[in-house]
Amino acid sequence: MRPRLGVIFFSKRSWPLAAGLLSLLALCGPAARARERERNSVYAERRARLRAQVDGPVILFGYTGKEDSSPSYVFKQEYNFYYLTGHNEPGAALILLPDARNDNTNGSGKANGKANSKEWDGPREILFLPPREAVRERWEGPRLGPSDPGVLEKIGFGAVEAFPKLRGEVEKLAKIYANLYTLLPGADDAGYPHARNWSNWFYQVVPQAHLSNVAAQIAAMRQVKSPGEIELLTRAIELSVDAQLEAMKTIRPGLYEYQVAARMEFVHKYGGCEREAYAPIVGTGFNATVLHYSSLREMIRDGEVVVLDVAGQYSGYSADITRTVPANGRFTARQREIYEIVLGAQNAVLAALKPGMSFARTGPNSLYLIAHQYINSHGKDKNGQPLGRYFIHGLGHHIGLDVHDAGASDRPLEPGMVVTIEPGIYIPEEHLGVRIEDDVLITATGYKLLTARLPREIAEIEKIMAEARKK
Ligand code: GLY
Ligand code: MN
Ligand code: MN
Repeated sequence: MRPRLGVIFFSKRSWPLAAGLLSLLALCGPAARARERERNSVYAERRARLRAQVDGPVILFGYTGKEDSSPSYVFKQEYNFYYLTGHNEPGAALILLPDARNDNTNGSGKANGKANSKEWDGPREILFLPPREAVRERWEGPRLGPSDPGVLEKIGFGAVEAFPKLRGEVEKLAKIYANLYTLLPGADDAGYPHARNWSNWFYQVVPQAHLSNVAAQIAAMRQVKSPGEIELLTRAIELSVDAQLEAMKTIRPGLYEYQVAARMEFVHKYGGCEREAYAPIVGTGFNATVLHYSSLREMIRDGEVVVLDVAGQYSGYSADITRTVPANGRFTARQREIYEIVLGAQNAVLAALKPGMSFARTGPNSLYLIAHQYINSHGKDKNGQPLGRYFIHGLGHHIGLDVHDAGASDRPLEPGMVVTIEPGIYIPEEHLGVRIEDDVLITATGYKLLTARLPREIAEIEKIMAEARKK
């Protein structure tokens, strides 16, 4: 069946195009500047903190730009490289020398038996950039080049070199230091070839070198956000809240899942988001029980609930928000019962949320257990069994440059971390799925609900939906 596009824009009972767009414009305010970055000093300070944690050089590669050959691909920097440089152009690399204090000399004047690092008389940090190519720039626009006037000030690095010089510097460093730090293939990038390709490069160029994985150190830093990161995340969250409110006003039986997603994506993009934080999940009926449902091909029908797990990415930082709403604007008694249990679980978690608590599945500080116990002790399935078995995913995760951001998921929470709290119940046999997902900043004494502007209570959601239907 063909989607009834007319339902969205042209029917009398729905909103005319102009009114719809006007309400969106009012909602979004002035378009913000996409792809903001933090001050150079913030990236420099991160590099200094990393240099203080290693006893050998850190050598990292940005993405090449050839990771995806599709014409619709827009370059996006490797997260760790971006975190340390704020540089969002392809083909770059960096070398950071260890802080002089922990430059490994073993007190013997030798670095692990090798010559003292004093033999390294180069800069303590170098950014390598590909030489500029005039013809390519006619196609892709100007790039920052290694010999540009003022390049050091522009990018805030101690030194900038042309990329072809990297290999010689790495060969030199491998003769001086026993340990070279880079990103090695690991659980986080399963299947993705970046770390694998570059570690193979090391094995060929400096086969004698011992490679250590620096992923965990950078990930641990990434888990505690800077004020600038919190600002960018807040912007992503605000735009995503706007989009969720727009969806509540939009949804009705007869619309297709992708049509609801399209309106939400418009709100993100118009506000300055460069892309979606992840493939939008708009799942109605049975699809609401499929955690990462992505085909969005079904028509929303009367009596169903719709899971809306949709959020934008702003200047590199990703929000992650879910609301579950009734297609016709009113929850049925059973939908209400399950929704209230998920909300009760989320509120129980929020009541306990503070530094020291964790996403670990067990232990006295487990937030997951609080949610699971709540769900398992409220309500029953159609066979009279407890509902814990229908809470089939973790309680939450860090957000940041990646929507499932880097770092140990069971690390106790600390002020400055930004995480999701997202309990859910999914009962496929009832075609009923409910997830409520909010984003919180951990503070010294508890948390700040960054998604506070987006209602979670049934009465408030039904009110917004009812008011939109009057128009
Ligand atoms: N949007 C994916 C998640 O909630 O983790
Ligand atoms: Mn999530
Ligand atoms: Mn989500």
